[in-house]
Amino acid sequence: MSFNRREFVKFLGGSTWALGSLNLIGCNSNESSLTGIEYSNLDELVLAKGYEYEILISFQDKISDKDTFGSNNDYTCPIALNENELILWVNHEYPDMLVGSRWEKGMAKTKEMIDQERYTVGGSLVHLKKEKKKWNVVFNSSYNRRLNGNTEIPLISDRPIEGKTMAIGTFANCAGGVTPWQTVLTCEENYHNYYGERTFPERTKIESLLEWDKFYDNPPEHYGWVVEVNPKTGAAKKLTGLGRFSHECATCIPTKDGRVAVYSGDDKNNEFLYKFLSDKSDSLEKGELFVANIKEGKWISLSIDKQPILKKTFKDQTEVLIHCREAGRLVGATHLDRPEDIEIHPETGDVFVCLTNNKERGNMHGSILRISENGADHASMSFKASDFLVGGESFSCPDNMAFDKLGNLWFATDISGSSMNKPPYSKFKNNGLFYVPIKGAEAGKVIQIASAPTDAELTGLSFSPDGETLFLSIQHPGEKSKNVKNLTSHWPKGGDSLPLSSVVQIRGPLLKA
Ligand code: FEO
Ligand code: CA
Ligand code: CA
Repeated sequence: MSFNRREFVKFLGGSTWALGSLNLIGCNSNESSLTGIEYSNLDELVLAKGYEYEILISFQDKISDKDTFGSNNDYTCPIALNENELILWVNHEYPDMLVGSRWEKGMAKTKEMIDQERYTVGGSLVHLKKEKKKWNVVFNSSYNRRLNGNTEIPLISDRPIEGKTMAIGTFANCAGGVTPWQTVLTCEENYHNYYGERTFPERTKIESLLEWDKFYDNPPEHYGWVVEVNPKTGAAKKLTGLGRFSHECATCIPTKDGRVAVYSGDDKNNEFLYKFLSDKSDSLEKGELFVANIKEGKWISLSIDKQPILKKTFKDQTEVLIHCREAGRLVGATHLDRPEDIEIHPETGDVFVCLTNNKERGNMHGSILRISENGADHASMSFKASDFLVGGESFSCPDNMAFDKLGNLWFATDISGSSMNKPPYSKFKNNGLFYVPIKGAEAGKVIQIASAPTDAELTGLSFSPDGETLFLSIQHPGEKSKNVKNLTSHWPKGGDSLPLSSVVQIRGPLLKA
């Protein structure tokens, strides 16, 4: 993998890192741990030398006598119970076309197929125990449960939405976050694919891709929210104060004055970056939502009482929150190139935002944006923005990220199935997992640690509490298969098997406590 100092120059210049206070693992004494892999187009999860993986859990594995693990695993969030036990939350972003309903494009969907899909999406909670460095699912644990497209979830809102205070189901769960009080946030991203959408202000119905609205008339306005889940009980609530849009993630950090800031991107071409500031230190139910003007380095309030243009356009704050995109446009937010995952550096507090791409604007490879809040205070109303890494040379289409305990960056890419291994993406081959040391002799080097099986995306990366295991979602292997008889991938079981989205656990030289 090429050494990419050019992309790193902007980061090093004006950096606020406390140089020398972190130990760069693998640096100097263990150079071999920083040797990556070449780009690969094999139908395998290829790992760098010294790394090993096991499947933790796959689609349709039983987690209890009554429930199975869902489809298309995405965000993973480990919540520690003790040194050797944790509860793992896993998002199930969308139905699996091959294994779930077994439908083919153009085939009429039945209610039975849609009911099957409704069960497989949402999220799973699974109890894990560690034995001899390896994590295993505790079958039938009382912590194991599913949230899905049928789960009743209250809407935390100033008033009923479409006449109701309860939504049916969560789905399109892409990435998420974890609160300071150790509950999970799961984000409803491409919600419009299920029950469609209504335009504002005309309320014209836009039909859905997955046709759930053919059999169920749930209001589209009940989806596109951030959902908070108690990992121990499974109790969930939709936090409407954080706004409604294609939430990729909801990344939390306490502010200096004891509130909580939550950053979230709207993963759609030319949409916005948002920040929510809670009223309290231990609840996200109430607070104020802001949208970013990147050019001026300002957070703009979306409070109807502070913005005359919003007062003129919307009947109340709930209507503003339901239509954040329209509200953001009215107050002059900056259009971005698909803001996806957001992570906060554990030492500097800098906010990193993946901008995956924007093909309409000619941005094919994306970048990682760095936001430095004024005074390193996440309640600040002003910030500086700069490019951290730019895609196109050593990687393309960054999507999900995580900082390890030492503050080094890990990120995964999502070149779409229809673009992968084709110009201008050919050289990158399959999607990958990359590692960027933040300082030391190798600082700024972009090193590929893993390559995905055919058509898959690597996503949902998280570290076990001891830092020795990386949990990683292998999502949609074989996505471009025409049907179950013409498969592009047989990962992970090989032979003639159906491809299965799975969460893997990875150990290796850079993963140390
Ligand atoms: Fe579901 Fe933005 O990726
Ligand atoms: Ca994603
Ligand atoms: Ca993505």
